Amino acid sequence: MKRQKYFIVLVIMVVFSVAAQAQHTHANGVEHTHTHYPEFDSIIAHKLIFPSSTPDRIIANLTNDAAHTLAVNWRTDQQVPKGVVEIALATDGPEFLLRDVKQVNATSQKFENQNRNEPLVKATYHSAVVDGLLPNTTYVYRVGNGEQNEGYWSEWFQYKTANVGNETSFSFIYFGDAQNHVKSLWSRVIRNSYRQFPQVDFMLHAGDLINDRDANLEWGEWFYAGSFIHATVPSLMTPGNHEYRDGVLSSLWRPQFTLPENGPIEALKETCFAVDYQDMKVISIDSEGFDESMEAREAQIKWLDSVLQSNTKKWTAITTHYPIYSTAKGRDNIELREALKPLIDKYGVDLVLQGHDHTYARGYAENEGRGLTVVEDAGTIYAVSVSGPKMYESKDQEWMVRRGEYTQLFQIITVTKDTINYGAYTPIGTLYDAFEIIKKDGKKTLINKVPDSPIRLKKDFEKK
Ligand SMILES: [Fe+2]
Repeated sequence: MKRQKYFIVLVIMVVFSVAAQAQHTHANGVEHTHTHYPEFDSIIAHKLIFPSSTPDRIIANLTNDAAHTLAVNWRTDQQVPKGVVEIALATDGPEFLLRDVKQVNATSQKFENQNRNEPLVKATYHSAVVDGLLPNTTYVYRVGNGEQNEGYWSEWFQYKTANVGNETSFSFIYFGDAQNHVKSLWSRVIRNSYRQFPQVDFMLHAGDLINDRDANLEWGEWFYAGSFIHATVPSLMTPGNHEYRDGVLSSLWRPQFTLPENGPIEALKETCFAVDYQDMKVISIDSEGFDESMEAREAQIKWLDSVLQSNTKKWTAITTHYPIYSTAKGRDNIELREALKPLIDKYGVDLVLQGHDHTYARGYAENEGRGLTVVEDAGTIYAVSVSGPKMYESKDQEWMVRRGEYTQLFQIITVTKDTINYGAYTPIGTLYDAFEIIKKDGKKTLINKVPDSPIRLKKDFEKK
């Protein structure tokens, strides 16, 4: 009898927990799978959603002059009217506190938003760019309200500026969509990417960082997952379709990031931009903007042409959320490909780093299924990747050199004078794909280094 009762309770609990993660259709007809947090006032949800006087959501962004600047954003409650960055040369002990600590004022703006059934969140967003820094130098910085006695401050973070010149190598980590269950299931990806490669110079997010444009809880989870890494390693991010809704960008995007404002039109500020890092140009194309507005489409095509035409960097990478070559049937982005591929080809772009398809694939247009190890004049390498737990299926296509499903990945990309080395890793550090590009004496060679491990397919992991 007792056992029967226990069984009934268990069944009820399972039914409720399944219902809590049900797929449902919104008023706008879009289907989403949400994890519901029935009580936004649970302690952890409360901490993730609401600001306090002590800074949270602290993030460094990559600027066009990473050797001499630090761009940092953070959030507080509205009791804090102003923001200050304190910065000093890092020292072996705490003696930097006794030396020259420089104060830089932030720009602060009051901001409030309420997303769907979330509570209203009132915050102050602070944004500062510290310039005049020395290249290749480790600093310590903290952010706070500027008061020494009644101070609300972050911890001191270490931050290293970029090298100048093109002689030294640098590395960045590229992530596909985090998007869903970001605290629960994405956190180990960013954390282990950093543990595997702590000397990383910057991180690149190819859109859909979260699922629901203005959800304070989801953004809270994204910042929680990356924690001090976001404040220590500068980031670049291009928006995905989930940072948009009904053609409108997340209201949090611009207050919480400092991304370059050198795109073509006001509407694409901080979503379409170009950044120079040593001898590489990194370009963000806002592909949801491209999809949503003819003005944003035409402006980006014209702008990309002019940026690539005047590009003096040896290496060029484009990041954009929608893939130029999709990994699955029914997900093809023909208009994007027809508009951008001629420019990518004309100017010899080296890498195109994308997301959206929730699978992995990497290859090049002329591959034609040949699977060669060494390829002369392979042209542009296209990658689609996913870092979060939402998993789709893909279809083998001739452009693909390596394909995978049901695998969370991060990509470590190292750029030297004559080479790009790329490795795609799972959160436990298993290499899933690799290649090298050598560009020397006007010749470009691709060397595929796909590990000798079986392709991972979703069907092999689903319950039969
Ligand atoms: Fe997407």
